[in-house]
Amino acid sequence: MTVTVVDHPLVQHKLTIMRDKETSTAGFRRLLREISLLLGYEVTRDLELTTKMIETPIETMEAPTLEGKKLVFASVLRAGNGLLEGLLDLVPAARVAHVGLYRDHETLEAVEYFFKAPSDLGDRLVIVVDPMLATANSAIAAIDKLKSRGATNLRFLCLLASPEGIERFAKAHPDVPVFTASIDRELNEKGYIIPGLGDAGDRMYGTK
Ligand code: URA
Repeated sequence: MTVTVVDHPLVQHKLTIMRDKETSTAGFRRLLREISLLLGYEVTRDLELTTKMIETPIETMEAPTLEGKKLVFASVLRAGNGLLEGLLDLVPAARVAHVGLYRDHETLEAVEYFFKAPSDLGDRLVIVVDPMLATANSAIAAIDKLKSRGATNLRFLCLLASPEGIERFAKAHPDVPVFTASIDRELNEKGYIIPGLGDAGDRMYGTK
């Protein structure tokens, strides 16, 4: 499995502000949207192009255009939606899947409560988004589910990953490349990424 750490200075700068506990809910949300544009640029860097004939106001040209079926962003609810919004700004025609999972706070296992996706997942690139690859339980469960519905070409995009999460994810889904802005030091006993940024959903929505 490949892991790409997006170490662009703008990504790292924005991430630092997001980690800061003094950053407001509104600021956190805005930064998550901005950073998702930069991460989205990397995760889509090698999308295949074809060409089509268009008329500019001056002449006809054979111009590049994305090839193949529209890609799918699969958001792992609820925090995935923070990344999803920016990604849809980049690729407005993308299809969207939602995978509703919550973390059982006792067992840290992912429990599914919602799933909705395009029916032809097997024909599409599926980019699964969830800001935190912590225990990897949710990411593994989301991808298990998407594969069971036919997806074969997947990528996983997050903001922060733990070394433990990456190791578990690589064992479960060695065929799925991971893109992240940082691999943090460790996971604590409660399943939080350290130093991390806290609970991404709570930071995004002002809950707690
Ligand atoms: N989910 C979060 O939102 N934060 C963590 O640190 C781990 C999982």
